[in-house]
Amino acid sequence: MDPVRVGILGLGTVGGGTVSLLRRNAEPLKRRLGRALEVTRVAVKDPSKPRPVDLEGIEVGTDAESICTDPNIDIVIELVGGVDNAEPLVRKALEHGKPVVTANKALLAERGNELFRFAGEQGVDLAFEAAVAGGIPIIKALREGLAGNRIESVHAIANGTANYMLSRMRTEGMEFAGALQEAQDLGYAELDPTFDVDGIDAAHKLALVAAVAFGAPINYEALHIEGIRSITREDILYADELGYRIKLLAITKNGPGGIELRVHPTLVPQDTMLASVEGVFNAVQVVGDAVGPTLYYGPGAGADPTASAVVGDLVDVARTLGAPPEYRVPYLGFRADGMQEPRW
Ligand code: NDP
Ligand code: HSE
Repeated sequence: MDPVRVGILGLGTVGGGTVSLLRRNAEPLKRRLGRALEVTRVAVKDPSKPRPVDLEGIEVGTDAESICTDPNIDIVIELVGGVDNAEPLVRKALEHGKPVVTANKALLAERGNELFRFAGEQGVDLAFEAAVAGGIPIIKALREGLAGNRIESVHAIANGTANYMLSRMRTEGMEFAGALQEAQDLGYAELDPTFDVDGIDAAHKLALVAAVAFGAPINYEALHIEGIRSITREDILYADELGYRIKLLAITKNGPGGIELRVHPTLVPQDTMLASVEGVFNAVQVVGDAVGPTLYYGPGAGADPTASAVVGDLVDVARTLGAPPEYRVPYLGFRADGMQEPRW
């Protein structure tokens, strides 16, 4: 069979990781899918930048839009980031009948309702596993593995940068600024790191998780958000003495009063599993009415873990390329006519 031709928008931390992973695991991927996945075009902002990836055989240019309209591209991966930067590109690709894989939680938290509706109208997928909790396949777990449950609550450590900073401040005695710089140097932080430290990135992710968990429209506006900017090393040490860890938690519950959505630093007892999540690792604890409590754990940011989620989506989308919608799992887990407007 012909290879699936892939166009990638952005070749930074995640884009570079995705190209490398597709090259490294080309053979097992072909066995899994029955077709090769071939990156044919990539768009960047500055083509003169040195890239630590093998780009042989890939056309590298600056015209991202032309990838979205290229009849020789089957699937577009959006990894440029930003909302106004990315939205027209994603729309253009969907408009041209191309499924899109994205890691862009800011885009989907803010414009996801319109974009998912548009993708549905166009009959193509908009996949976003990499947008939530890095390498942890939590979206797949919620929309497929836990589909039999009424989801009761989700408690998540969903920002790798913030968790990395809190860990480094506790274990290495680092100050806030130094710990943030390290997370940035490691490629974990957002382009604007205030998103990480002020809880905005975790809130974007929680808005998506709640939509998938509860079959409700994305409602980022309903979130209470507080980040870790005011947490000092002293706070962390006092918490330690009292038997707690300070964690930035993203919490959503579906109770009789409606859906609760909040992100804030929380004192977590040291003998719990969430307290033991250190560094860039994330964890998501989901309680379903049938299964009870479940816990998902893994690296929450960085090139390889995020590429793992991007490529997982790519395989998923490639498997059902061109298939009618009834043969595909909807990306928010519910059919459009099954979504409910809840109380927030
Ligand atoms: P980077 O800043 O490292 O990379 C962004 C890439 O996009 C760069 O290659 C840049 O080009 C390119 N780019 C930006 N604007 C354009 C444009 N208009 N046309 C063409 N290329 C463009 O970001 P990340 O890889 O870290 O993040 C990408 C996305 O993934 C974001 O949405 C982020 O939130 C998300 N994400 C990131 C994770 C991480 O660990 N870093 C984890 C999970 C999700 P150039 O290189 O020339 O500057
Ligand atoms: N900046 C994000 C984080 C990237 O640190 O969690 C992964 O979404």
